[in-house]
Parts: sequence; structure tokens; C-alpha cells
Amino acid sequence: MSEDIYDAQFVKGVFDRCSGKYIAFSLICSFGFTERWRAQCVGMLPDPITAGARGYDLMAGTGEVWPHLLKRFPDVGAITAVDISSGMHQRAIERLHAHRAHRIAFIEDDVLASDLPDASADFVVSTFGLKTFNRDQHRRLAALIARCLKPGGVFSMIEASDPKGWWLRPLYLFHLKIVLPTIERVLLRGAQDFAMIGTYSTNFGDASAFAEMLLAEGLEVKYRRLFFGCATAVAGRKPEALPAATL
Ligand SMILES: C[S@@+](CC[C@H](N)C(=O)[O-])C[C@H]1O[C@@H](n2cnc3c(N)ncnc32)[C@H](O)[C@@H]1O
Repeated sequence: MSEDIYDAQFVKGVFDRCSGKYIAFSLICSFGFTERWRAQCVGMLPDPITAGARGYDLMAGTGEVWPHLLKRFPDVGAITAVDISSGMHQRAIERLHAHRAHRIAFIEDDVLASDLPDASADFVVSTFGLKTFNRDQHRRLAALIARCLKPGGVFSMIEASDPKGWWLRPLYLFHLKIVLPTIERVLLRGAQDFAMIGTYSTNFGDASAFAEMLLAEGLEVKYRRLFFGCATAVAGRKPEALPAATL
């Protein structure tokens, strides 16, 4: 029987093996777009995030989004990074974020199995962490976000997406499916884990279905396409009082 690529332990294996080269690979192979999209994701967080605010970075990886978050909201009190891959997080703290480690907590867990407390977050962010979930898992993630946000809490999430309808889409897919796996095989002598990330990305499509799931959980949601749909984002807020249908 073929492996379930959406099984949490399978995904953990992919990212544990990638962790050493993830930062450079993601920056270079996206031509710097991933950094720009992280900044845009933080830019989409609705105001205000007040001094001392606490929140989650889900599927935090190497914590690439934290500098953007702390630049826009310097008074954030604490960020709890949730990631299934300890390899990714260790790299984050060792190499990049030792000076801000006191503001970062880490939960090493499958986010969908974690018991994050109800109404515990002023904000939730997530960058490039949606693609390794299937539709049913997306539904559970949407419910988790709605449950964990405080009333009035805000969220923003972004993911690399399939730019359907863009005339350069064939070139984009060629880059994702042929060029990147070749770079990994030839230059990195890797185990084709970055190639798996390409597979997750094309399977994902875009974040429009996830936006509907967040809406169904009673959240206020804005959906945006960035750079011809090569990335899509959802951002919004949990109303102070949830609509009666979702209670
Ligand atoms: C593509 S990386 C994104 C990392 C980072 N947020 C960034 O901006 O580069 C996806 C991350 O999601 C994590 N992840 C995947 N499935 C997960 C799950 N079920 N629970 C928690 N983390 C998960 C992986 O370990 C990986 O670190």
C-alpha cells in the first residue's frame, strides 16, 4: 500500500530531513518571494495587536515570520511556535532567534492533536503551513483556530498556491515539479523531500476552500491572491460574539 503523505508522522519525517537546508532552499528557490509573502501575511493581520499580546505561529518551522511580526508589533508579549518537527525548531532557535528566545515558547506536536486552550490567543499566524493538510484536516484546523482565538482575536495565514489562469503557470509548474527536484537531486544529494513540498503545493490548489471553512466556523475572513495567485492568503478576526448558528 502506498504511504499516506498527509499522515502527521510522514510529514514530520519530510521536514526533519529538510531542516538543515530549508532556510536557504526556500529563499533561493522562490527568488526571495517567500520572505516577501511572509511580510505580506503579517501586513494582513487586522489591527490592533495590543502590547503584551500572546499568540500562535502554527507550523512555525524555522520561525521565519517572527522578525516580520515583531517589526510590525514590537510589543508582542509571547509567540508560541507549534511544529511537529523538532529539527525545524532547533534550527530556528540555534541559528536565528537566540536573542529573542525568551519571547518564544515551543510546542512540538501535531497541531491537530495538540490541546491548545480555548480562547488563548490574541493572534494566530501561519506561513506556508497549510499545504501538508488534506481537506478534512483543513476543516479541523479551521475549527481549532476559531476555538483558540479570543473574541476579537485576529489571524493571517498564507500558502504557496497554484496560479490557475496565469499565462506563465506552465513555467511556474515546470520550476516546481522539474527544476526544484533536479536541484535537490543533483546539488543537494537530498532524499527528494523538497520535491515532496512541490507535490503538496500542487495538490493544495489555493486557500479559497480553507477561507470557506474559517467562515463556516463563524470567523470574519478576507481572501487574497498574491502575485497572480502564486500565493493565497486568508486573514480576519473572530467576532466579539460568535453568530448563533456556530454556538
Ligand atoms: C513549509 S514549512 C513552513 C515553515 C515556516 N512557517 C516558514 O514560513 O517557512 C511547514 C512546517 O509545517 C510543519 N508541520 C507540518 N504538518 C504539521 C502538523 N500536523 N503539526 C505541526 N506542524 C506541522 C512542518 O514541520 C514544517 O516545519
